[in-house]
Amino acid sequence: MNESNNSRRKFIKNATKVSALATFGVAPISGVLAKEEDSTTEHSFLTPPYLQSLTPTSVDIMFVTNKQAYSWVQFGEQNLGNKAHTISDGFVKAYNRVNCIKLANLEPNTEYKYRVVSKEITIFKPYDLQYGSTIESEVFSFKTRPAEEQEVKCVIFNDIHDRPYSFGELLKVNGDKPFDFVLLNGDMFDYEEDEAQVINNLLTPCADLFAKSKPFLMLRGNHETRGKFRAELKNYFSYPTDQYYFAFNWGPVHFTFLDTGEDKPDDAEVYAGIVDFDSFREKQAAWLEKEMQKPEYTSAKYKVVFMHIPPFYSGDWHGTMHCRKVFSPLFDQYKVDLVISGHTHKYGVHLSGEEHSYPIIIGGGPKTGTRTITNLQANQDKLEIQMIDDSGNKVGEYILKS
Ligand SMILES: [Fe+2]
Repeated sequence: MNESNNSRRKFIKNATKVSALATFGVAPISGVLAKEEDSTTEHSFLTPPYLQSLTPTSVDIMFVTNKQAYSWVQFGEQNLGNKAHTISDGFVKAYNRVNCIKLANLEPNTEYKYRVVSKEITIFKPYDLQYGSTIESEVFSFKTRPAEEQEVKCVIFNDIHDRPYSFGELLKVNGDKPFDFVLLNGDMFDYEEDEAQVINNLLTPCADLFAKSKPFLMLRGNHETRGKFRAELKNYFSYPTDQYYFAFNWGPVHFTFLDTGEDKPDDAEVYAGIVDFDSFREKQAAWLEKEMQKPEYTSAKYKVVFMHIPPFYSGDWHGTMHCRKVFSPLFDQYKVDLVISGHTHKYGVHLSGEEHSYPIIIGGGPKTGTRTITNLQANQDKLEIQMIDDSGNKVGEYILKS
C-alpha cells in the first residue's frame, strides 16, 4: 500500500471519528479539535494539500491535520530546500489544524516541488511546549502562472450537492482538455454540518483529482449559507480579499465572482432571522460598480461574471429578482460579455435579448443524467465555452470572437 492510500485510510478513519464527535454535540470548532480526539488517534493529515490563490509569484497551500500542530511547507525548483510557514503578529503560526501557508516571491512560469510537514504539539504551556510526532506528505508539484499571460483555461463545476463522486465522473467526460484553475460555482453541499463533510465531500475529492497541482476557487451558492457549520466554511479556502466576492484578471479575461446569497427573502421563516443577504448583495453591487470602472476591467478583452443564482431563467423567487435588480443593470451598463451560473439544475445557454444584453450560461445537476461540466478557454482571438453532460455529449456552446 502506498503512502497515499495509507494516509487516505487514516484520514477516513479520523474523519469518521470527527463526525461521530459532532453527532454527540462535541462539534469541532474551527482550528480546535475536541480534547477526546487527542488521546485516541495518531497525528495525521485529514486532507491532502490543496492549492488556492495561484499567481505568477505566489500560491496558498492548504491542508488539515487532526491534531493541534506546527505545520510548514518544504519547497523548491530542484529540491525541497526552502521552508515556508505563516508569521503574523510576531508569532509563527502554530497550535492549529487548518493550515493556509503562502509561498511567496516565486518565479513566474516555473514548476515547483513541495511537500507539507506537520509536528504535533502535545503540551502548550508558557515555558513548556512539547512536540509529538512529525508527519510529512508525499512530494507534489505545481507551476506558477506566466508573468505575461496570453490565455486562460478553466473548468467549472456547479450544484454537486454532496455527491463527491460527481467531481471525478464529470472531470472524466471533460477529457484531456487542459485547465489552469477550477471554479466551484456554488451548491457543492446541501448544507454544512461539520468539518468531516467539507473534507469528505469537497476537499479530499478535489485534492485527489486536481487540487494538489491546480488551484480551485469556492464560490458560495444558496445551499452553502445553511447549516451550523456555515460560518466555519470560509476557513477552508483562501480568497484574494478574504471576501466571498472578488475579481481578478487572468490572461485576456477579467473574472468577477459574486455571492448571490439565499434564494428566499431574508425574513423567510425557515431562516429564523439569521441571514441578511439583501444588504450583502447591495454591498457587492456598490463594490462591483467601482470594480467595473478600474482599468483592469475596462481594458480586459473579455468580461466574465460567475454567480450561482442567475439573474434570469431561475424563477421569480426573491434571490433571483434581487440579483436581477442590483446586478443586471451593471452588467448591461458595463458590457459584461458572459454570465456563468448554476442553481436551476437545468442546463442551458441563453443568448442576449431584450431583458439582458449578455448571454447567461447555466450548468445542470446534481442527479446523474442531469449533470454538466463547463469549460472556458480564452485567448487573444476568442473566448469559447463548452458544456458537456455526464455522458460526454456537448450540450452547450458559446463562442465570442475578440
Ligand atoms: Fe442553488
